[in-house]
Amino acid sequence: SSVESGSVKWESPSNIALIKYWGKKENQIPENPSISFTLSNCKTITKLTYTKKDLSTALKVTSDFSFDVYFEGEQNEAFKPKIQTFFERIEEYVPFLRDYHFKIETSNTFPHSSGIASSASGMSALALCLMSIEQKLKEGVTLSAVERSSEKNYFKRKASFLARLGSGSACRSIEGELVVWGQNESAESSDLYGIKFEGEVHSNFNNYQDTILLVDKGEKQVSSTVGHKLMFGHPFAQQRFAQAHDNLAKLKAVLASGDLQGFVKIVESEALTLHAMMMTSMPYFILMKPNTLEIINKIWKYREENNSNVCFTLDAGANVHVLYPENEKESVLKFINKELADYCQNGHFITDFVGKGAQLI
Ligand code: PMV
Repeated sequence: SSVESGSVKWESPSNIALIKYWGKKENQIPENPSISFTLSNCKTITKLTYTKKDLSTALKVTSDFSFDVYFEGEQNEAFKPKIQTFFERIEEYVPFLRDYHFKIETSNTFPHSSGIASSASGMSALALCLMSIEQKLKEGVTLSAVERSSEKNYFKRKASFLARLGSGSACRSIEGELVVWGQNESAESSDLYGIKFEGEVHSNFNNYQDTILLVDKGEKQVSSTVGHKLMFGHPFAQQRFAQAHDNLAKLKAVLASGDLQGFVKIVESEALTLHAMMMTSMPYFILMKPNTLEIINKIWKYREENNSNVCFTLDAGANVHVLYPENEKESVLKFINKELADYCQNGHFITDFVGKGAQLI
């Protein structure tokens, strides 16, 4: 192609699963469907600058991937192996990958060592940048009417498809506000990419809030690569995968009816089940910290005493996501400041809410 150089920039958010993805097959295919809220404030901003290599076609085939990574303004070697692996996985779908040198400049809106996984926001931002380049390379190519009409879905779906190959949950960060990934009863959904949840959603769930309590900012004790593998030969694996299907169906009904109490039950049970899977695998892990449990108990007590619908969910770590409807914002934030902040490292928490997905900037 004739595109010599240029740059593209995307910001892409993190997401928090309500029904958890835990366990995968070859090629990042999930063992069960999952659904997540896309976040707003927690995001990665990535600028991708591409410069055509000065190589003959023959050389390009054997030429290595060429890229530099800058994280928060400084050259970063630590991220390179992950990106190398990502490039190897997506190469067959991104034929121009060896034609260019890439400068990847990336930063997060949340602190690096906060225990917040940046893989979902980071991998989705990079995938979107690559899709923008693909689009530029296609400019001038005449599309059929069918191709034109599917163009919009094509861009997002392929971005999600690529992001999945970087980090499974990253495929749920392209769109908002609820994203489903993984085959289930609905005809549209796929194991290969996430799609915007198109079911009915009651206004009770509008602008849902997520305050992330940073209980432990350290390195993850169990990487998700190791974590997913724990589901191989896990004694409860099949029951768990079946339960996720069941919970997704139940959650869809809850989202439609606005049943906040039903929401709380499913979401908290999913979080505890995720951790139960880790406690009952071999080797076994406890990823909660004492403060995680203190917080959970405080949330339960507050909910009881205040007729509240606040609840928690967890990722594969000690941090707690506090989820609540917008109309409880003031009271719950007061409660968090007064009673939960003390259980966070350096009193640190991040207030966030459900968002609409990634954006070109
Ligand atoms: O995307 P991965 O491979 O890092 O897996 C993440 C899995 C959980 O965050 C624990 C659950 C989920 O569905 O996001």
